[in-house]
Order: sequence, then C-alpha cells, then structure tokens
Amino acid sequence: MGKTHWRIGVAGLGTVGAGLIKLVTARPRFSPTGDLCTVTGVSARSRSAPRPVDISGLPWFDDPVALAASPDNDIFVELIGGAEGPAKAAVEAALRLGKPVVTANKALIAAHGRDLAILAEAHGAPLLFEAAVMGGTPAVKMLREAMVGDSIHAVAGILNGTCNYILTQMEATGRGFAEVLGEAQAMGYAEADPTTDVGGYDAGHKISILAALAFGGAPTLSAAEIEGVDSIELLDIRLAKDLGYRIKLIASATNVAGAVSVRVHPALIPLDHPLARVDGVLNALFIHGAAVGRIFIQGAGAGAGPTAAAVAADIADVMTAAVRPVFQRAALDLEPIAPVSPDAATGRVYVRLLVKDEPGVIASISETLAEAGVSIDSFLQKSVEGAGGVPIVLTTHLAPEATIAKAVGAMAALPTLIASPRVIRIAHI
Ligand SMILES: NC(=O)c1ccc[n+]([C@@H]2O[C@H](COP(=O)([O-])OP(=O)(O)OC[C@H]3O[C@@H](n4cnc5c(N)ncnc54)[C@H](OP(=O)(O)O)[C@@H]3O)[C@@H](O)[C@H]2O)c1
Repeated sequence: MGKTHWRIGVAGLGTVGAGLIKLVTARPRFSPTGDLCTVTGVSARSRSAPRPVDISGLPWFDDPVALAASPDNDIFVELIGGAEGPAKAAVEAALRLGKPVVTANKALIAAHGRDLAILAEAHGAPLLFEAAVMGGTPAVKMLREAMVGDSIHAVAGILNGTCNYILTQMEATGRGFAEVLGEAQAMGYAEADPTTDVGGYDAGHKISILAALAFGGAPTLSAAEIEGVDSIELLDIRLAKDLGYRIKLIASATNVAGAVSVRVHPALIPLDHPLARVDGVLNALFIHGAAVGRIFIQGAGAGAGPTAAAVAADIADVMTAAVRPVFQRAALDLEPIAPVSPDAATGRVYVRLLVKDEPGVIASISETLAEAGVSIDSFLQKSVEGAGGVPIVLTTHLAPEATIAKAVGAMAALPTLIASPRVIRIAHI
C-alpha cells in the first residue's frame, strides 16, 4: 500500500511559509489523493519572532540544511529566498538525499535551475516551483504540462506586481516615481531595498524560467536583456496616453527564427489591449501557441494565500506521484537559451525629444529619420510648462532595432536638441 501520510519540513516562515502552515493546518487533506499532509519541522532565522501562525508545537531547526536532511520529513519546502546561501544549500542537501523539494524561489531556479535539475534527476527527486512565477496564478504548470502538445511562439506579460502598482499609481495620482515607490514601501508592496523589483531583475528571473519551460532549454539569466521602471517619468506616462498607450513593464520570451529573445523592459501597450488594463499588483501573461493561438491569464502574483496555494499544488504533485523532468527534457540534455542576434531584432519605439523652440526643428527630425530609413507612425508636439523646451514625441513603424538605434543616435546629435532622446519600446504582443 502507498504512503498515506506525508510529512513536510518548511524552511522560511515569512509571508509564504506562514501562509503554507495556515493552509496545511486548515486543510491537511488538500491533496486529490485524500492523504494526510502535516508539518513536522520548521526553520527560520529567529525562533522568537512573532508569527501569524502558531509554531510552538512544531520541531524547530536553527539550520535549514539540517531540516532538509532530517528523516522526520518526506518533502522539503524551501521558502527562504535568494539564489545563494542557506536556500541553495538546503535544497541541494534535500535533493542529494533523493528528497522531493518544493520551492517558491525564482532567484534560485533562474540562476541554478539546470544544476539543481541535474541533481534532482540524478537522485530521482522531484523539484517543483509553481509558486516561483506569478505566485498563485498557474503559469509554470501551464507551460510545463498543459501546453507540451503545442509549439510556443511567445510568452509575454506583467510579472512584477510592485512595478505594475507603481506605474498604475503614477498615472492615477500624477505623482512621480520616487514618491509612489515610498508609498508602496510603506504599504508593504515594495521591499526596503527595491532594486530587485524596480530594476526589472525579479521579472527577469521569472521570464528566464518561463523561457526555459516554453522553449525547452535551461534557465539562462545571461541571455536576458533587463531594464527596469526606475527611469520612467510621469511625462512619458502622460504623453504615451495622449498617443493611445499605457506604459507597462513587460517581460517576454519570443522565438525569433529558432533563437529566443528574452527581455524585460518598459513598453507602450495600446490602451485597448488586455495587458494595458492590468492594474495594481496583479500579474498577467499571454502565451502564444501555434495550435491554440493566444491564451491570457491574469491573477494574484504574490501574497500569502495565493502563493501558499501554488506551493500546496506542488506538494500535491509529489503526493500523487506525478513525475516529469524538472524542465522539458532530461536535465543533462538541457542547452542554454540561445539569444537572438541584435541584427535579427525588429520593433517599434516611442521617442521623446526636448527641442529648442525654433523654426525647422521638426523638418530636421523628420529628415534625420528618413535618412536612417525609419518611418514615423505618429507625431505629437506638446507644450509642457517648465519643460525648458518643446517636447516632441513620435512613434515609429516597424524597423530593425539596429536601424532605429542609428536613427536615434543621429537625432541625438542634432544641435536643436536640448536633452538626450528618451526611447521606450512599443510592445508587439
Ligand atoms: N511574498 C510573496 O508573495 C511571494 C510570491 C512568490 C514567490 N515568493 C518567494 O517565496 C520565497 C519566500 O518569500 P517571502 O515573501 O515569504 O519572504 P519573507 O517574508 O522575507 O520570509 C523569508 C523567511 O526566510 C527566513 N530566513 C531568512 N534567512 C534565513 C536563514 N539563513 N535560515 C533560515 N531561515 C531564513 C526568514 O526568517 P525570519 O522570519 O526569522 O526573519 C523568513 O521567515 C522567496 O523565494 C520569494 O521570492 C514570495
């Protein structure tokens, strides 16, 4: 007879760890097998810190590696975070013993996914990470399981709730980036050190994982081009809206002639596009499959309840003995994602220029673009009080990115320009 009682060790008792303990306590038979799941060991930094759940009756481990190695649990759940340090050491220790691991740690999987998958498969242990991308909204299982019969062209979406909250609030309240970030920190939507979120790195970790699952490679952080929202100005949000767009931080992985473009950057999205309507801390993702066409999912990307539910779904996979490779092929056969050659990339951009209020300025800009071979889609000249010149914004038609870069360089050299051009990509999703 199979196992009917599964004991889990939980390392990390923060937002997600406490959420998981609450879920397992309230619904210990959440697995479709109906088997019992109980917590038989916990670890965190401080034993005495106040917690939203009662851990007084649970065996305590100062060292998460000792918890991972303890024979008193059957599944190790890593909810500490970080690509290195105790999280990595504990996950490795569990896998080396052939113990199933469930983690929500995107930084760890994005940085060490292939090595950990090799370790997991060598020791016959599942390594599951549904909660690592989009928290409670199922993106990993969608690509890993439900879509393996299709061939994916692209995945693209809003994968960082903090950045989306900041952009949404900037537009809604007319306040600048720094002020809205401060408020997000006070409300607990942004970390004290916001770099990982606002610099685009968190979304970079997540899209690297989705790219690996969508295109059958290893997570390859070095292949990702990453730009955050920290340089977005209110002026761009307003001007983009006048042109019929909203600025969002978009993470995408796109198949371009067999190579994969993996990117995180602010992008203009047409106001009537579903991604433009994803507000606040929500996450959303488009998956474009050759057979199924476009799928759109939207939901909670973080939070104790949603993220713990995703962790529990992975625990249920272990309990139901669902077995697959960690990524889409045997770990030893995983190749890095091959980045797209810069020459092959095409796109459209929004360019904001600040020019002197002189005759002939617009003609010189148009000529410069025409000479470079870039055609203009829309053009807007708008007086803004205190701007110190005349802001001009234009959007281009589709052109090779290298050609656009050359045209922007030529515009930057025009004597009538007061400040460097501000370029934001226009999404093609
Ligand atoms: N928060 C979310 O909504 C969310 C969503 C998706 C994925 N995730 C991922 O889930 C993981 C956990 O996130 P979280 O938000 O729950 O983090 P958190 O609230 O900061 O909690 C982290 C926990 O790890 C513990 N910890 C830190 N260093 C440790 C060490 N050296 N040894 C043992 N324990 C240690 C902390 O102990 P103390 O409590 O004693 O300080 C704390 O309990 C991260 O990988 C994160 O990226 C989070």
